[in-house]
Amino acid sequence: MLKLLILSVFICLANASIRANTVVNNFENEVRQNKRYKPIWSDLDTRPLPEWYDKAKIGIFIHWGVFSVPSFGSEWFWINWKASKNNKKYIDFMKNNYPPGFTYQEFAPMFTAEFFDPTAWAQLFAKSGAKYVVLTSKHHEGFTLFPSNRSFSWNAVDVGPGRDLVGELADAVRSQNLKFGVYHSLFEWFNPIYLEDKRSKFATRTYTETKLWPDIRQLINKYKPSVLWSDGDWEAHDDYWRSTDLLAWLYNDSPVKDEIVVNDRWGIDIPGKHGDFYNYQDRYNPGKLLKHKWENAFTVDSKSWGYRRQMSINEVFTINQILNQVVSTVSCGGNVLINIGPTKEGTIIPVFQERLLALGEWLSINGEAIYGSSPWHSQNDTINPKVWYTCTKTDYNASHPTAVPSKADRVTAIYAVMLKWPQNSVLNLADVTAYLHSGTYKVEMLGNEGQYLNWNITNGQVQIQLPDKATVVSQHAWTLRFNTK
Ligand SMILES: *[C@@H]1O[C@H](CO)[C@@H](O)[C@H](O)[C@H]1NC(C)=O
Ligand SMILES: *[C@@H]1O[C@H](CO)[C@@H](O)[C@H](O)[C@H]1NC(C)=O
Ligand SMILES: *[C@@H]1O[C@H](CO)[C@@H](O)[C@H](O)[C@H]1NC(C)=O
Ligand SMILES: *[C@@H]1O[C@H](CO)[C@@H](O)[C@H](O)[C@H]1NC(C)=O
Repeated sequence: MLKLLILSVFICLANASIRANTVVNNFENEVRQNKRYKPIWSDLDTRPLPEWYDKAKIGIFIHWGVFSVPSFGSEWFWINWKASKNNKKYIDFMKNNYPPGFTYQEFAPMFTAEFFDPTAWAQLFAKSGAKYVVLTSKHHEGFTLFPSNRSFSWNAVDVGPGRDLVGELADAVRSQNLKFGVYHSLFEWFNPIYLEDKRSKFATRTYTETKLWPDIRQLINKYKPSVLWSDGDWEAHDDYWRSTDLLAWLYNDSPVKDEIVVNDRWGIDIPGKHGDFYNYQDRYNPGKLLKHKWENAFTVDSKSWGYRRQMSINEVFTINQILNQVVSTVSCGGNVLINIGPTKEGTIIPVFQERLLALGEWLSINGEAIYGSSPWHSQNDTINPKVWYTCTKTDYNASHPTAVPSKADRVTAIYAVMLKWPQNSVLNLADVTAYLHSGTYKVEMLGNEGQYLNWNITNGQVQIQLPDKATVVSQHAWTLRFNTK
């Protein structure tokens, strides 16, 4: 009876706190729903970052298109062949392997995708530990992987696969509970309508009005992506692209207005200044905490985003190199977007699968230090720069997702990820000393929980005795968790 009473009191309290939370959340939602963004950067910049994106940390990037057919050099094959100064190797490649007069367009029917199994891809991405997937809906070549009405005969339904690749992958990815996003190139190297606008020094906007906007609207309305990853913006200013109009529509009226996030490639001088998250340049990884949410987009093939048949093993990132990117990026407030290039047949080659699975295995042990984590006061340790910190804190600040814990935040754990196993299995750290002084902490290694590690403070440094390496569950990188006893 007494037990029941206590239980029901507890339930009442729990209900009260759930109700209180609901009220707060409803209030925040109302504020958000009522807010209409003006098509100017200063207003668009006030948008809170949707929490799912900050928590996700790990995404997969896929570069797939007609360039996957020659799969030579990089996804920039067409322009490198036709318009670069150093095009000899491309001209020779074409002369040696294709009939005279062969055009880039003739590659499209050879983009067969006969082995494309969207469910198998999505399962692989889920196993890699990624939480979102971004597919090239259109690269600079202009070929769309969805049936754009304005890319007649230059899309994956009309020629090549004969399938709506964007739609099929979107469904499969969502079935694995991952978020789906699209990459979209603003410009098209050889689109005559774009080139006409360019000749007018972008005084006309025929391409933007009749091609780009309608295509993006079709993509957003039909596939409801959670990420719109813009690229190919750098020849023109944002007023030519009508970037702020597009973003205001996305944030105010699109079917994904509360969910979608966009990057920063919206015209000359915009990257690193506006957008829900910043990419800056490709493979950007500053090694220090940034004020604004950012993303490090990098490739498993260190030389190319699209599939490259002449890739050799020493050009492929090792799992250690991948983890180095993941850990340093997340410590500094970023997400990683890890790129692989599928083949024209629709396969993901085994070396890419192997790297993604190794990442997934690592995250299945160490994910607690990554997903939903927050930057800590120090990013890499002063005396041990191969050790990177994160923490878990209450609460998420949508206006400043990369904020280090404030006085009001409750830090529930601090994590130190070691990219290198220290000599004699003793780890020395400088930056956690004050914290370990301030309370009674226990130190454990993820994967070997329950085995509390001995530590002491000697000359202002924390010295931690690690477990016997032969008994350690994690491989390649190791996480220590500090929390109060
Ligand atoms: C594309 O064209 C088809 C056929 O003309 C039409 O049914 C469809 O509504 C169009 N879709 C869009 C998004 O404009
Ligand atoms: C942290 O790592 C970055 C990038 O590797 C390096 O430039 C920096 O010096 C390191 N910081 C410390 C405190 O060692
Ligand atoms: C969230 O971050 C903003 C911007 O830095 C700051 O003004 C605000 O006080 C923060 N909110 C909380 C609850 O910490
Ligand atoms: C702690 O301190 C002593 C003496 O300063 C040292 O010999 C010992 O190895 C230290 N480390 C650990 C992890 O206990």
